[in-house]
Amino acid sequence: MSQTTTTASAPARAEWTGQFGFIISAIGSAVGLGNIWRFPGVAYENGGGAFLIPYIVALLTAGIPILFLDYAIGHRFRGSAPLALRRVAGKLGEGIGWFQVMICVFIAIYYTAVLAWASSYFVFSFNLSWGEDAAGYFTGEYLKLADQPFTLDFVPAVLIPLILMWGVALVVLGAGVVKGVQRLNMVAIPLLVVGFVILVVRALFLPGATEGLNALFTPDFAALADPSVWVAAYSQIFFSLSVAFGIMMTYSSYRKRRSNMTSPGLVVAFGNSSFEILAGIGVFATLGFFAHQQGVGVGELEGLKGVGLAFMTFPAIATQMPGGEIFGALFFGALTLAGLTSMISIMEVILAGVMDKFGLTRKRAVYGIGGVLAVISVVLFGTTSGLTALDTIDNWANNIGIVASAVVMTITVLWIRRAGTELSGHLSALSTFKVGRVWLVCVSVLGPVVLGYMLVATIVDLLATPFSGYDTGYLAIVGWGSIAVMIICSILLTMSPWRYNPDRFTPWPPVGAAAAKETAR
Ligand code: ALA
Repeated sequence: MSQTTTTASAPARAEWTGQFGFIISAIGSAVGLGNIWRFPGVAYENGGGAFLIPYIVALLTAGIPILFLDYAIGHRFRGSAPLALRRVAGKLGEGIGWFQVMICVFIAIYYTAVLAWASSYFVFSFNLSWGEDAAGYFTGEYLKLADQPFTLDFVPAVLIPLILMWGVALVVLGAGVVKGVQRLNMVAIPLLVVGFVILVVRALFLPGATEGLNALFTPDFAALADPSVWVAAYSQIFFSLSVAFGIMMTYSSYRKRRSNMTSPGLVVAFGNSSFEILAGIGVFATLGFFAHQQGVGVGELEGLKGVGLAFMTFPAIATQMPGGEIFGALFFGALTLAGLTSMISIMEVILAGVMDKFGLTRKRAVYGIGGVLAVISVVLFGTTSGLTALDTIDNWANNIGIVASAVVMTITVLWIRRAGTELSGHLSALSTFKVGRVWLVCVSVLGPVVLGYMLVATIVDLLATPFSGYDTGYLAIVGWGSIAVMIICSILLTMSPWRYNPDRFTPWPPVGAAAAKETAR
């Protein structure tokens, strides 16, 4: 771990204006597509009300502890994922940091496509353009989905919003951490919360809403004996809280030296889960209405999560609802805002990594690297082949990439480098909520063991059963190939020389006992 002192020539590292700016931006990152379209369906499929037990256990034993670990590394070692982890664990650490950056590269490319669809559907909502056959409209008229997995036939209706979404994201990122990212979150998050609460309240007053809520919350305790239910809970918490793929590490590297670490972490974690449960209530109340309209049980409905839920089931429901135009606009507006603030945090991981290592200015990184990613995203998802690639990359990046990153990071930082005590001291020094042995046990024992098990179980499962019934050759190239590209790029990036002094932004000196007496900002 290098401990150089700040030189007069070292440029200042970006900083949030204060604790509130950080918290709102971290919530903006956490609350995303994972909360609105993933959680309700995952909870429903995995025991309904009983799922809340593994969900809360996962939040307390892995989500919050690893969130704190990300905060501690990012803040104490004050860098992007590759730089901060390099300072903790040398080249191995840097490699893990680049792997996290690469996960973000893959996620950013498809996440923006979903944002583009959501923004189109926001506009479509005003006259319910999808008509009576919402599912057919989405895959047929809108995406013009082709049978073959790769095509270069561009679809203007997707291409234009996709370019627009990349444009908005890059302009916000180009404006900087405070003037761009923080400012956007200050506006977007309150708007999102207000809009979403209106949507949920409206949903609760729909006929059939109670049946929907019963379907979601009726506990199936037998599900708790099924290990895959626990795996689902841990994966959900990871993706949703934005932990273990560089985001929270990067965001906490922009905090001031004297910062309360744990209390904002608790606000972000519980805020994110509250939004998630609120989304579950809103979505299932709406599905209850839909089932009621069709005279069937909620269990008989199809398309209860992900792409199907958002772009097929919800539009179909809006068509049947009085005031469906407003309801659709609120839903797709919320999806766009929640997704945009998360997408920006994913891109910031990439930009911070290259700025730290290659000494690029923010503008060059944003428009150079961001521009290249935008072109890849447009070629892959602005064409008629988008949906299959999106589904595949999403599954591999989340269920293999993020979980592997968490396992390797915890083993390296806590078992090999044995930085646990130092990081726990850093977390507690200025925080009202102190962490100690319980935190250490969670991150160094429970984390690697539970997550390691999850990873092996997922790999075995993916090898045994072709994902979504897709062609195995295609899955080998796009799914496993994505992971191979992530690993190869991480090695190459780690081996390439630092074009800029890696101590460009010096780590914060340890916050000692004397410093702890001062008031935390
Ligand atoms: N945490 C973000 C989400 O839930 C990535 O979508």
